[in-house]
Amino acid sequence: MKIIAIDQSGQRHELEALEGWRIMEIIRDYGLPIKAECGGCCCCATCHVYVAPEWLSKLVPPNPEEEDLLLDAPDTKANSRLSCQILMSAELDGIEVVLAESAKP
Ligand code: FES
Repeated sequence: MKIIAIDQSGQRHELEALEGWRIMEIIRDYGLPIKAECGGCCCCATCHVYVAPEWLSKLVPPNPEEEDLLLDAPDTKANSRLSCQILMSAELDGIEVVLAESAKP
């Protein structure tokens, strides 16, 4: 399984992904620029990514906490998600995300 992550400078990275891992953890473990300050407990919004539109419908919808955090983030768009709230599964093999400017460490 893999994910495609495009960093804030536009560089594309293909990352090996494991089932059940949070996308945030995969991006962070590869050393890409993602702050993920709260470590995945859905209380910081510094793991903000834009999900390629064709993948959005495959994701579990955001819970109210995630929605609130995204409302407060400075660069939220219609396809914004918190990457710590996306769990990797076979259905998401190949998912493409762009790291938000506000996720920069
Ligand atoms: S890492 Fe803090 S909300 Fe995702």
